[in-house]
Amino acid sequence: MGTMKNNSSSSKLPWKRTWITGAGRGIGAALAHGLCWAGVDVYASARSEDQLQRLKSDLSDAPGRIHPCPLDICDIEQVERLASDWDNTNLWPDLVVLNAGTHDPFPAADFTAFRTMQLIETNVGGTLNCLEPVLRHFMQQNHGHIAVMASVAGYRGLPTAAAYGASKAALINLCEALHLDLKGTNVKLQMICPGFVRTPLTDKNEFKMPALMEPEDAAERILEGLSSNRFEITFPKRFVYWLKLLRLLPYNWYFGLVAKATGTGKG
Ligand SMILES: NC(=O)c1ccc[n+]([C@@H]2O[C@H](COP(=O)([O-])OP(=O)(O)OC[C@H]3O[C@@H](n4cnc5c(N)ncnc54)[C@H](OP(=O)(O)O)[C@@H]3O)[C@@H](O)[C@H]2O)c1
Repeated sequence: MGTMKNNSSSSKLPWKRTWITGAGRGIGAALAHGLCWAGVDVYASARSEDQLQRLKSDLSDAPGRIHPCPLDICDIEQVERLASDWDNTNLWPDLVVLNAGTHDPFPAADFTAFRTMQLIETNVGGTLNCLEPVLRHFMQQNHGHIAVMASVAGYRGLPTAAAYGASKAALINLCEALHLDLKGTNVKLQMICPGFVRTPLTDKNEFKMPALMEPEDAAERILEGLSSNRFEITFPKRFVYWLKLLRLLPYNWYFGLVAKATGTGKG
Protein backbone atom coordinates (compact mmCIF):
# COMPACT_ATOMS: atom_id res chain seq x y z
CA MET A 1 0.00 0.00 0.00
CA GLY A 2 1.42 3.38 -1.01
CA THR A 3 1.03 6.27 1.40
CA MET A 4 -0.30 9.80 1.04
CA LYS A 5 2.53 11.31 3.10
CA ASN A 6 3.06 14.29 0.85
CA ASN A 7 -0.50 14.94 -0.08
CA SER A 8 -0.99 18.68 0.40
CA SER A 9 -4.77 18.49 -0.27
CA SER A 10 -5.19 16.52 2.97
CA SER A 11 -2.94 18.68 5.15
CA LYS A 12 -5.64 20.78 6.85
CA LEU A 13 -8.48 18.40 7.54
CA PRO A 14 -11.26 19.51 9.89
CA TRP A 15 -11.67 16.22 11.84
CA LYS A 16 -10.01 14.98 15.04
CA ARG A 17 -11.24 11.38 14.99
CA THR A 18 -12.86 9.27 12.29
CA TRP A 19 -14.45 5.84 12.15
CA ILE A 20 -13.88 3.91 8.94
CA THR A 21 -15.58 0.57 8.40
CA GLY A 22 -13.86 -1.78 5.98
CA ALA A 23 -10.49 -0.20 6.81
CA GLY A 24 -8.50 -3.44 6.61
CA ARG A 25 -7.71 -3.22 2.91
CA GLY A 26 -8.72 -1.54 -0.36
CA ILE A 27 -10.31 1.90 -0.37
CA GLY A 28 -10.90 1.98 3.39
CA ALA A 29 -7.23 1.28 4.17
CA ALA A 30 -6.11 3.93 1.65
CA LEU A 31 -8.45 6.42 3.27
CA ALA A 32 -7.06 5.54 6.72
CA HIS A 33 -3.55 6.25 5.38
CA GLY A 34 -4.63 9.65 4.03
CA LEU A 35 -6.33 10.64 7.28
CA CYS A 36 -3.55 9.41 9.57
CA TRP A 37 -0.85 11.20 7.60
CA ALA A 38 -2.93 14.36 7.93
CA GLY A 39 -2.92 13.93 11.73
CA VAL A 40 -6.43 12.51 12.15
CA ASP A 41 -6.96 9.54 14.50
CA VAL A 42 -8.82 6.60 12.95
CA TYR A 43 -11.00 3.95 14.57
CA ALA A 44 -10.47 1.22 11.99
CA SER A 45 -13.06 -1.57 11.69
CA ALA A 46 -13.23 -4.82 9.72
CA ARG A 47 -13.63 -8.48 10.68
CA SER A 48 -9.96 -9.42 10.02
CA GLU A 49 -8.04 -8.21 13.07
CA ASP A 50 -4.68 -9.07 11.45
CA GLN A 51 -5.34 -6.62 8.61
CA LEU A 52 -6.18 -3.88 11.12
CA GLN A 53 -3.00 -4.62 13.11
CA ARG A 54 -0.98 -4.42 9.89
CA LEU A 55 -2.57 -1.06 9.11
CA LYS A 56 -1.63 0.15 12.60
CA SER A 57 2.00 -0.93 12.24
CA ASP A 58 2.23 0.50 8.68
CA LEU A 59 1.12 3.84 10.11
CA SER A 60 3.16 3.81 13.32
CA ASP A 61 5.17 6.85 12.14
CA ALA A 62 2.13 8.88 11.07
CA PRO A 63 0.93 11.82 13.19
CA GLY A 64 -2.57 10.33 13.47
CA ARG A 65 -3.16 7.05 15.33
CA ILE A 66 -4.94 3.87 14.21
CA HIS A 67 -7.20 2.27 16.83
CA PRO A 68 -8.17 -1.19 15.58
CA CYS A 69 -11.85 -1.87 16.38
CA PRO A 70 -12.51 -5.31 14.88
CA LEU A 71 -16.20 -6.06 14.32
CA ASP A 72 -18.72 -7.53 11.93
CA ILE A 73 -21.07 -4.78 10.71
CA CYS A 74 -23.81 -7.41 10.35
CA ASP A 75 -23.81 -7.88 14.14
CA ILE A 76 -25.67 -4.91 15.60
CA GLU A 77 -24.63 -5.82 19.16
CA GLN A 78 -20.94 -5.48 18.28
CA VAL A 79 -21.65 -2.12 16.65
CA GLU A 80 -23.68 -0.89 19.66
CA ARG A 81 -20.86 -1.99 22.01
CA LEU A 82 -18.39 0.17 20.13
CA ALA A 83 -20.80 3.12 20.26
CA SER A 84 -21.28 2.72 24.02
CA ASP A 85 -17.47 2.65 24.46
CA TRP A 86 -17.44 6.05 22.78
CA ASP A 87 -20.29 7.20 25.05
CA ASN A 88 -18.27 6.13 28.11
CA THR A 89 -14.97 7.67 27.01
CA ASN A 90 -16.60 10.69 25.41
CA LEU A 91 -14.33 10.07 22.42
CA TRP A 92 -16.85 9.84 19.60
CA PRO A 93 -15.52 10.24 16.06
CA ASP A 94 -16.58 13.45 14.31
CA LEU A 95 -16.41 11.83 10.84
CA VAL A 96 -17.82 8.37 10.09
CA VAL A 97 -17.18 6.66 6.75
CA LEU A 98 -19.46 3.65 6.30
CA ASN A 99 -17.34 2.00 3.65
CA ALA A 100 -17.43 -1.75 4.41
CA GLY A 101 -19.02 -3.78 1.66
CA THR A 102 -18.67 -6.81 -0.52
CA HIS A 103 -19.26 -7.92 -4.09
CA ASP A 104 -20.46 -11.26 -5.44
CA PRO A 105 -20.92 -11.15 -9.21
CA PHE A 106 -23.13 -13.87 -10.71
CA PRO A 107 -25.31 -14.29 -13.82
CA ALA A 108 -29.08 -14.94 -13.71
CA ALA A 109 -28.43 -18.68 -14.15
CA ASP A 110 -26.73 -18.75 -10.72
CA PHE A 111 -29.28 -16.55 -8.94
CA THR A 112 -30.41 -17.64 -5.49
CA ALA A 113 -32.31 -15.65 -2.90
CA PHE A 114 -29.82 -16.73 -0.23
CA ARG A 115 -26.76 -15.46 -2.14
CA THR A 116 -28.49 -12.19 -2.98
CA MET A 117 -29.73 -11.65 0.58
CA GLN A 118 -26.27 -12.37 2.01
CA LEU A 119 -24.77 -9.57 -0.04
CA ILE A 120 -27.65 -7.20 0.73
CA GLU A 121 -27.36 -8.03 4.41
CA THR A 122 -23.73 -6.84 4.41
CA ASN A 123 -23.94 -3.85 2.09
CA VAL A 124 -27.31 -2.54 3.23
CA GLY A 125 -28.05 -4.23 6.58
CA GLY A 126 -24.50 -3.74 7.89
CA THR A 127 -24.48 -0.09 6.87
CA LEU A 128 -27.84 0.45 8.58
CA ASN A 129 -26.53 -1.21 11.78
CA CYS A 130 -23.66 1.30 11.86
CA LEU A 131 -25.80 4.24 10.85
CA GLU A 132 -28.30 3.83 13.70
CA PRO A 133 -26.07 4.65 16.72
CA VAL A 134 -24.10 7.25 14.74
CA LEU A 135 -27.16 9.13 13.52
CA ARG A 136 -28.74 8.92 16.99
CA HIS A 137 -25.64 10.43 18.61
CA PHE A 138 -25.01 13.06 15.93
CA MET A 139 -28.69 14.14 16.00
CA GLN A 140 -28.58 14.44 19.80
CA GLN A 141 -25.48 16.64 19.74
CA ASN A 142 -26.63 18.31 16.50
CA HIS A 143 -23.21 17.90 14.95
CA GLY A 144 -21.30 15.29 12.93
CA HIS A 145 -20.30 14.15 9.48
CA ILE A 146 -21.34 10.86 7.85
CA ALA A 147 -20.28 9.46 4.48
CA VAL A 148 -21.86 6.34 3.02
CA MET A 149 -20.05 4.27 0.39
CA ALA A 150 -22.41 3.53 -2.48
CA SER A 151 -21.20 3.00 -6.09
CA VAL A 152 -21.89 4.04 -9.66
CA ALA A 153 -23.11 0.42 -9.96
CA GLY A 154 -26.21 1.62 -8.12
CA TYR A 155 -27.16 4.08 -10.87
CA ARG A 156 -28.74 1.45 -13.18
CA GLY A 157 -28.78 -2.33 -13.62
CA LEU A 158 -25.57 -3.92 -14.95
CA PRO A 159 -24.83 -7.49 -16.08
CA THR A 160 -23.91 -9.97 -13.27
CA ALA A 161 -24.51 -7.24 -10.68
CA ALA A 162 -28.15 -7.84 -9.72
CA ALA A 163 -27.32 -8.24 -6.02
CA TYR A 164 -24.52 -5.68 -5.82
CA GLY A 165 -26.34 -3.08 -7.93
CA ALA A 166 -29.55 -3.50 -5.92
CA SER A 167 -27.62 -3.02 -2.66
CA LYS A 168 -25.92 0.14 -3.89
CA ALA A 169 -29.13 1.54 -5.44
CA ALA A 170 -30.76 1.08 -2.02
CA LEU A 171 -27.92 3.02 -0.36
CA ILE A 172 -28.18 5.84 -2.92
CA ASN A 173 -31.89 6.24 -2.26
CA LEU A 174 -31.32 6.01 1.51
CA CYS A 175 -28.68 8.76 1.35
CA GLU A 176 -30.87 11.02 -0.80
CA ALA A 177 -33.75 10.68 1.68
CA LEU A 178 -31.57 11.23 4.77
CA HIS A 179 -29.82 14.18 3.17
CA LEU A 180 -33.24 15.82 2.74
CA ASP A 181 -34.32 14.89 6.28
CA LEU A 182 -31.12 16.35 7.76
CA LYS A 183 -31.54 19.72 6.08
CA GLY A 184 -31.49 22.46 8.73
CA THR A 185 -29.38 20.39 11.13
CA ASN A 186 -25.60 20.43 11.63
CA VAL A 187 -25.36 16.78 10.65
CA LYS A 188 -23.72 16.47 7.24
CA LEU A 189 -24.39 13.36 5.16
CA GLN A 190 -22.56 12.63 1.91
CA MET A 191 -22.63 9.73 -0.51
CA ILE A 192 -19.55 8.32 -2.24
CA CYS A 193 -19.99 6.77 -5.70
CA PRO A 194 -16.64 5.65 -7.13
CA GLY A 195 -16.08 4.07 -10.52
CA PHE A 196 -13.67 1.11 -10.69
CA VAL A 197 -10.88 1.04 -8.09
CA ARG A 198 -8.22 -1.69 -8.03
CA THR A 199 -8.84 -3.66 -4.79
CA PRO A 200 -9.39 -7.31 -3.77
CA LEU A 201 -13.12 -6.62 -4.42
CA THR A 202 -12.68 -5.70 -8.11
CA ASP A 203 -10.02 -8.42 -8.58
CA LYS A 204 -13.10 -10.69 -8.83
CA ASN A 205 -14.22 -9.00 -12.05
CA GLU A 206 -13.40 -10.99 -15.16
CA PHE A 207 -13.85 -8.11 -17.62
CA LYS A 208 -11.60 -5.19 -18.49
CA MET A 209 -12.56 -2.38 -16.12
CA PRO A 210 -12.67 1.04 -17.81
CA ALA A 211 -10.94 3.98 -16.09
CA LEU A 212 -9.60 1.72 -13.30
CA MET A 213 -8.06 3.80 -10.48
CA GLU A 214 -5.58 2.99 -7.72
CA PRO A 215 -6.95 3.08 -4.14
CA GLU A 216 -4.59 5.92 -3.14
CA ASP A 217 -6.02 8.11 -5.94
CA ALA A 218 -9.55 7.18 -4.90
CA ALA A 219 -8.76 8.07 -1.28
CA GLU A 220 -7.41 11.44 -2.36
CA ARG A 221 -10.62 12.21 -4.30
CA ILE A 222 -12.71 11.08 -1.34
CA LEU A 223 -10.82 13.31 1.12
CA GLU A 224 -11.17 16.24 -1.23
CA GLY A 225 -14.92 15.52 -1.59
CA LEU A 226 -15.41 15.15 2.16
CA SER A 227 -13.90 18.61 2.62
CA SER A 228 -16.46 20.05 0.18
CA ASN A 229 -20.19 20.63 0.48
CA ARG A 230 -21.07 18.36 -2.46
CA PHE A 231 -23.67 15.71 -1.59
CA GLU A 232 -22.23 13.17 -4.02
CA ILE A 233 -18.52 12.39 -4.17
CA THR A 234 -18.01 10.63 -7.48
CA PHE A 235 -15.03 9.92 -9.73
CA PRO A 236 -13.29 9.50 -12.17
CA LYS A 237 -15.03 12.44 -13.79
CA ARG A 238 -15.14 11.48 -17.46
CA PHE A 239 -16.30 7.90 -16.79
CA VAL A 240 -18.99 9.10 -14.40
CA TYR A 241 -20.13 11.74 -16.90
CA TRP A 242 -20.97 8.97 -19.42
CA LEU A 243 -22.68 6.87 -16.76
CA LYS A 244 -24.84 9.81 -15.75
CA LEU A 245 -25.83 10.29 -19.39
CA LEU A 246 -26.72 6.59 -19.65
CA ARG A 247 -28.93 7.09 -16.60
CA LEU A 248 -31.14 9.44 -18.62
CA LEU A 249 -31.71 7.09 -21.57
CA PRO A 250 -34.95 5.17 -22.14
CA TYR A 251 -34.68 1.43 -21.40
CA ASN A 252 -34.47 0.17 -25.00
CA TRP A 253 -31.49 2.47 -25.71
CA TYR A 254 -29.89 1.75 -22.35
CA PHE A 255 -30.12 -2.06 -22.65
CA GLY A 256 -28.81 -1.96 -26.23
CA LEU A 257 -25.80 0.17 -25.35
CA VAL A 258 -24.87 -1.81 -22.23
CA ALA A 259 -25.19 -5.16 -24.05
CA LYS A 260 -22.94 -3.83 -26.82
CA ALA A 261 -20.37 -2.36 -24.44
CA THR A 262 -20.13 -5.45 -22.23
CA GLY A 263 -20.81 -8.16 -24.82
CA THR A 264 -23.46 -9.66 -22.54
CA GLY A 265 -27.23 -10.04 -22.53
CA LYS A 266 -29.65 -9.05 -25.29
CA GLY A 267 -29.95 -5.63 -26.83
N1 LIG B 1 -13.33 -1.19 -5.63
C1 LIG B 1 -14.22 -0.57 -6.37
O1 LIG B 1 -14.07 -0.45 -7.61
C2 LIG B 1 -15.44 0.04 -5.74
C3 LIG B 1 -16.23 0.88 -6.53
C4 LIG B 1 -17.37 1.46 -5.98
C5 LIG B 1 -17.68 1.21 -4.65
N2 LIG B 1 -16.89 0.38 -3.91
C6 LIG B 1 -17.28 0.14 -2.53
O2 LIG B 1 -16.23 0.56 -1.68
C7 LIG B 1 -16.24 -0.21 -0.48
C8 LIG B 1 -14.86 -0.79 -0.24
O3 LIG B 1 -14.56 -1.62 -1.33
P1 LIG B 1 -13.10 -2.17 -1.64
O4 LIG B 1 -13.03 -2.25 -3.11
O5 LIG B 1 -12.08 -1.42 -0.88
O6 LIG B 1 -13.28 -3.66 -1.08
P2 LIG B 1 -12.28 -4.65 -0.32
O7 LIG B 1 -10.88 -4.39 -0.72
O8 LIG B 1 -12.84 -6.01 -0.48
O9 LIG B 1 -12.44 -4.18 1.21
C9 LIG B 1 -13.66 -4.34 1.87
C10 LIG B 1 -13.48 -4.05 3.34
O10 LIG B 1 -14.76 -4.21 3.98
C11 LIG B 1 -14.62 -5.10 5.08
N3 LIG B 1 -15.85 -5.85 5.32
C12 LIG B 1 -16.54 -6.64 4.45
N4 LIG B 1 -17.58 -7.22 5.07
C13 LIG B 1 -17.57 -6.78 6.36
C14 LIG B 1 -18.37 -7.03 7.50
N5 LIG B 1 -19.42 -7.85 7.46
N6 LIG B 1 -18.06 -6.40 8.65
C15 LIG B 1 -16.99 -5.57 8.73
N7 LIG B 1 -16.20 -5.29 7.69
C16 LIG B 1 -16.47 -5.90 6.52
C17 LIG B 1 -13.45 -6.01 4.68
O11 LIG B 1 -12.82 -6.61 5.79
P3 LIG B 1 -13.16 -8.08 6.36
O12 LIG B 1 -13.46 -8.97 5.19
O13 LIG B 1 -11.93 -8.45 7.12
O14 LIG B 1 -14.34 -7.90 7.26
C18 LIG B 1 -12.52 -5.00 4.01
O15 LIG B 1 -11.75 -4.33 5.01
C19 LIG B 1 -17.35 -1.25 -0.67
O16 LIG B 1 -18.53 -0.80 -0.05
C20 LIG B 1 -17.51 -1.31 -2.17
O17 LIG B 1 -18.80 -1.74 -2.55
C21 LIG B 1 -15.78 -0.20 -4.41
